[in-house]
Amino acid sequence: MKRFCIILLSLAILSFGLLTAAQAAITIQIAGMKPEGEPETLGMYKFGEILTKLSNGKYEVKIFPNSQLGKENAYIANTRRGTIQMCATGTQTSALFPAMAMLETPMLYDSLEHARRAMNGKTFEYINRGFPEKSGLRTLNAFPLGFRHFYSKKPLTSMNDLKGLKMRVPNIPLYVNFARECGISGQPMPFAEVPAALDQGVIDGGDSPFADIVALKMYEITPNITTSGHILIIHSLYINEKFYSELPAQDKAWFNQAAKESADYVWDLLAGLEKEAIKTITEGGGKISEPSPEFKAAMLEAGKRSWKLFDETVPNAKEILDSAAGYK
Ligand code: G3P
Repeated sequence: MKRFCIILLSLAILSFGLLTAAQAAITIQIAGMKPEGEPETLGMYKFGEILTKLSNGKYEVKIFPNSQLGKENAYIANTRRGTIQMCATGTQTSALFPAMAMLETPMLYDSLEHARRAMNGKTFEYINRGFPEKSGLRTLNAFPLGFRHFYSKKPLTSMNDLKGLKMRVPNIPLYVNFARECGISGQPMPFAEVPAALDQGVIDGGDSPFADIVALKMYEITPNITTSGHILIIHSLYINEKFYSELPAQDKAWFNQAAKESADYVWDLLAGLEKEAIKTITEGGGKISEPSPEFKAAMLEAGKRSWKLFDETVPNAKEILDSAAGYK
């Protein structure tokens, strides 16, 4: 009888354990590079919130913004390896697949709405064709962080003022190439190194969207903000392709829906966030000025010249550019 009770008790403990395991949430870790409050980070939290809700708690999402899991190249590598399931990043992925650089083609979009149509349409599809097979990653969505503007110690009134300036550029061929076309002495470095480079006077400035200019308080050291708007930063949620492909169909649909809705959330939010940012910059002593028509025209020419890189490295560059033009 005693032995029978022990067996019964063991079976009860075992089935309780199995039941708990079956109910335990699956943790999804997402790494990002931008600080709290920025569009990228807000988008990641929104994705997590939606996925958990859609899956009725089957997935629990842990967000690691602000390079907490390492700088962008490190966490992209970890997502490819499957150490973490997802990350948010942008054209750093062009190192794996050159077409990804065209997500941020300089001087391409007339407005945020133009870019939104292209990213919700064929342009995004053409850029990503073949990317999962090549990289082991899948791009789930595309959302904007804002147009890039110059921040500098001295005011910039023409292309001449850019000549020889030590400006930080992301360590991505697209950016190094564009800086060269503008006559800038580009200083490639990861985003997380910008605050120290500014503090130590290693750079004279750089280019960033309003959200970064506010988050890193760039206007305190480099108060001149010139609204050149030369590149719209597009980031995406990336997922390990093997992990994604092994998800049951229903779960895939949840991931896709959460990605779509969180991207829409960021597109809708951006204009308001930028208005707030402009207020913060101005109140903090930053001087925001618009480039002259001549300066703008010269930037446009530099942007178009920089597209040569795409002709040389992306087999379907023309298809991508033509489709973007169709969404004007
Ligand atoms: O998508 C690439 C972009 O994020 C690089 O710019 O300034 O964020 O490093 P930054």
